[in-house]
Amino acid sequence: MTKSFRTNLSDWSLAVPVLPQAGPRRVALYREIRRLIETAALPTGAKLPTTRDLAKRFGLSRGAAVAAYEMLIADGFAEARTGAGTYVARTVPLTAASVPEPQRPRRNEAGPLPGELGCSAADERTISIFRTLLNRHLAQPTPRHYHYAEPAGGEDLRHEIAAYLRTARGVRCTADQVIVTAGTQAALDLIIRTLLKPGDPVWLENPCYTMARLAFETAGAAIFGIRVDGQGMDVEDGIARSPQARAVYITPSHQFPLGVTLSMARRVALIDWARQSGAYVIEDDYDSEYRFAGPPLAALQGIDAHERVIYVGTFSKVLMPGFRIGYLVAPQALIEPLLTTRQMIDRFPSTLAESAIAELLREGHFSAHIRRARRRARQARDSLVEALAGSGLTIAPPDQGLHLVASLPEGVGDKAFPARAADVGFGVRALSPMYIGAEQRQGLVIGFSGFEPEVLAGAARRFAATLRF
Ligand SMILES: Cc1ncc(COP(=O)(O)O)c(C=O)c1O
Repeated sequence: MTKSFRTNLSDWSLAVPVLPQAGPRRVALYREIRRLIETAALPTGAKLPTTRDLAKRFGLSRGAAVAAYEMLIADGFAEARTGAGTYVARTVPLTAASVPEPQRPRRNEAGPLPGELGCSAADERTISIFRTLLNRHLAQPTPRHYHYAEPAGGEDLRHEIAAYLRTARGVRCTADQVIVTAGTQAALDLIIRTLLKPGDPVWLENPCYTMARLAFETAGAAIFGIRVDGQGMDVEDGIARSPQARAVYITPSHQFPLGVTLSMARRVALIDWARQSGAYVIEDDYDSEYRFAGPPLAALQGIDAHERVIYVGTFSKVLMPGFRIGYLVAPQALIEPLLTTRQMIDRFPSTLAESAIAELLREGHFSAHIRRARRRARQARDSLVEALAGSGLTIAPPDQGLHLVASLPEGVGDKAFPARAADVGFGVRALSPMYIGAEQRQGLVIGFSGFEPEVLAGAARRFAATLRF
């Protein structure tokens, strides 16, 4: 058995860095002690200082020290011995070093940097309206909030979404076809579970939205990365390589990440092929609310008279990802199978968030919000483009969306840039890892939402100053 030893308080002062002045200090203390245990700086069986000593040494309340120890004990890192104090557990859970790195993007603890993708676009005014709407439901919750609800989502919201999609996006649908989901990701998961089995061939755009690709890869789909050119996904290439594909995932209005629009000829060719082959086309229409110039583009689903398109939309870009509310519009034949699957996953969406969003749409706040958000996004896009002018990056300002792609000079690789940008407080993503198979273009994918234009431009200028081509 490991020999116990008395911890020495002065050693602790070296081992534990200064705890943050703000925020929950018991959590910070818990994390620090846990780190010391996981890295074996505090060996198994070692005696931990008394909570009184710890509190005194780090200027914490005794309660914070007690709470940190309780968390360590609950998680199996420490044990209390009656009358003898608290000790590092004799067998601690798997250490960080022995656990494989998680395959998911790391989050910057301090929040996103200007330039990062996926930042919220809701402004103060919308938030304050939301507060009122949510409070209304919290103050007078209806029986709906206390019960298990319909797997498709509440009728109110489905009705509002269908009306919005018919007028704003040219989608052919009724409220019955709308299924409210926890965002696009959950919609994709639902579709994949319902339609695909491992090994089924699927076309993805190349380059592709990484989270969609992960969903299909995880399901074991046989993925065909279909070339994207100036007219969007090359449908001929798809038909030549995988004529029997079961499904296609596509962002026709604004290809992610390249930003091109699927041409009408390709739309027609895609729908024709899907009709003949019986494939489903999954249309991800994630940012069409942000159209700055040119004619409004209708959704692909609107030209599909054969019920081959499953339309997917989200409130993540137009409001904020935190609501986790999105939706899909299903062809008639898929409604029941999708709802059966949905019940097994998360049963139904949050009725509280749903009710507030339904009212946001019904009371006209949503369209006013979109107008403001679009104006802000355009300003932010212009500030970003201006700040990067003369940097050596080549940028075609996009007519739509919340991100742009900056091309690097010939022969310059893109992978080192995200870290270099983060060093000066700017967020960029490398384009090349978004390709399936061999990388094709090197570039930087940069977002322009969620930050004031001057903040974004300041960060972009700092980054531009580091570039030497
Ligand atoms: C192509 C694409 N689709 C959808 C989304 C939104 O995903 P979700 O609705 O799961 O938040 C994003 C967000 O970054 C995206 O880039």
